[in-house]
Amino acid sequence: MTKKRILSGMRPTGPLHLGNLHGALANWKNMQDDYDCFFFIADWHALTSDYEMTGPLQGYALDIFMDWLSVGLSPDKCTLFVQSNIKEHAELFLLLSMITPLPWLERNPTYKEQIAQLKNKDLSTFGFLGYPVLQAADIIMYKANGVPVGIDQAPHVELTREIARRFNHFYGDIFPMPETILTETSKILGIDRRKMSKSYNNAIFLSASPEEIRNKVGQMITDPQRARRTDPGNPDICNVFSFHRLYSDQQTVQSIYQECRKAQIGCVECKQMMAENLIMVLEPVREKRAYYEAHPDTVRAVIEDGDQKARVVARETMEQVREAVKI
Ligand code: TRP
Ligand code: SF4
Repeated sequence: MTKKRILSGMRPTGPLHLGNLHGALANWKNMQDDYDCFFFIADWHALTSDYEMTGPLQGYALDIFMDWLSVGLSPDKCTLFVQSNIKEHAELFLLLSMITPLPWLERNPTYKEQIAQLKNKDLSTFGFLGYPVLQAADIIMYKANGVPVGIDQAPHVELTREIARRFNHFYGDIFPMPETILTETSKILGIDRRKMSKSYNNAIFLSASPEEIRNKVGQMITDPQRARRTDPGNPDICNVFSFHRLYSDQQTVQSIYQECRKAQIGCVECKQMMAENLIMVLEPVREKRAYYEAHPDTVRAVIEDGDQKARVVARETMEQVREAVKI
């Protein structure tokens, strides 16, 4: 039986952190054996909001590729590529833009939210409004059956289905309807207990050195009710404990759970144990990453390879599309 195809993308906004690892990346990795996977760097998407500062984008793309490879996304199992290297996306985006009614874009919840949130950026651009049309082009280009994304992206996949349906209605049945495959969000928070995010400056990066990890973990906010060492703590609401669940062995997790509640362990010691375990778990990732950093040409070759595979599919789709649209 042929595998179902899935596709997802990440905007290159900087190196990846533990939140990404336990969110999207873990999910992608789990799917790579069972699905025909297409994963890409959505660099044109990054331009929709960061069109002024384009300088770091290429470096970020390379960085993210290194992170992908280091955590075990395999170019033998998946097609890993960079959006802007496949110019067909731009052509399909243009054709889809002709048939997408403006109100569909104007009522897109992500659009309204971002405009309200990112007040320091001028997002009253054509490109920013058209963001979901570009995303629709990314998805249907490869005739993806499923799109693994977080809940925030679900409206975009919904919109993709509507656009694909409209295309099929006008020009013939070319595109399958892609399903949303919801990614569970990461259980760990940033060091300040907000969602882990580069822009909050609260992230622990996959590429962090042991020193940086110790330092960041040392700054983590624990159970806010536990003011003194002699106060009992509540591990159920403590972010450090969530980390322990991921990085420490079962026995350590259990004893910390007990001892914290009886004030038999202090937060400083608890954090130190967690930091060392985290450092150990990330060691193989760090090792691979060091290799790729020393051999960026290897990474560039992997990208070119993936681009090539993606391009073959994109060309085929565009031939069908041009024939259907008669242009
Ligand atoms: N919009 C997605 C994000 O911000 C990135 C993205 C672009 C994407 N094109 C895609 C995700 C296609 C899934 C499928 O995270
Ligand atoms: Fe959190 Fe550990 Fe402190 Fe308990 S002892 S509050 S689990 S950091």
